[in-house]
Amino acid sequence: MQDRNGISAWQLNQNSAAAYEEYLVGRFFRRWAKRLADHAQIAPDERVLDAGCGTGIVARTVAQDRNVTAKVVGLDVNDGMLAEACRRDTDQAVTWQSGALEKLPFDDDEFDVILSQQVLQFVPDREQVLQEFQRVLAPGGRLVLASLRDISFNRSYEALARTLDRHAGKEAGEMMRSPFSGPAPDTLRKELGAAGFRNISIQHDILDVRFPNPAEYLRQEAASSPLAGPLSELDDDRLSALIADLETSLAPFTDDHGVAFPMETYFVKAS
Ligand SMILES: C[S@@+](CC[C@H](N)C(=O)[O-])C[C@H]1O[C@@H](n2cnc3c(N)ncnc32)[C@H](O)[C@@H]1O
Repeated sequence: MQDRNGISAWQLNQNSAAAYEEYLVGRFFRRWAKRLADHAQIAPDERVLDAGCGTGIVARTVAQDRNVTAKVVGLDVNDGMLAEACRRDTDQAVTWQSGALEKLPFDDDEFDVILSQQVLQFVPDREQVLQEFQRVLAPGGRLVLASLRDISFNRSYEALARTLDRHAGKEAGEMMRSPFSGPAPDTLRKELGAAGFRNISIQHDILDVRFPNPAEYLRQEAASSPLAGPLSELDDDRLSALIADLETSLAPFTDDHGVAFPMETYFVKAS
């Protein structure tokens, strides 16, 4: 379709892992990964697990930028994401492993550091996952994770989700909300304490993010996620109406250079 911003085609059926890496890692997850690694202060001889590694940006950042030489493992349940992670790991510095956080395929005490970026909000049984983290962490080991703050702190996404509700249905809107539906920081603090973690420290952080225009904001988010499904069912007229409404909803975030907004997450460090 030809949309109002001159995009000639909505390629929502491209490989979603490749799109995730190109769009979302490129726009913000790479920068978030560096901040996560800064929080973790990893020494070269430490053994590191990137839990829910996706396309592997955290593991690759640690292995390449921080010169971790001991062991870096990236684990994910999604083999498509792992294949993209492996393809991007040109130095072959990371071991990529398929598996679920609820039943980690590792021995007790196998890691010194567990990093996990934007994963816990998608896990139904956090208690089980936190117990597994405890089991595979060596004595004195640490967990450093990041989870997006509630969508009320991420207002451009709230506008996106509401626009999707109106034009693509509640299911599409909920898909856009799901990354922001993780535990509140104090809930997670209690859960970590119950799982035996100590020295728990929580820090809010804000990243500036920019997309070229509202239509590309929507297209890139959709191409990188299951949102591609409901959006690909819209005909051209309904998609044009959605984009027109989105341009209005995102007007407070739009300037002559595109859509710019603050993205808020929180980091948790525990040992
Ligand atoms: C938003 S992505 C984050 C990926 C990566 N950490 C990053 O920063 O780009 C969430 C990832 O968590 C993975 N995931 C969700 N639940 C999982 C589980 N129970 N076990 C393993 N991986 C899981 C998904 O497959 C997905 O790759």
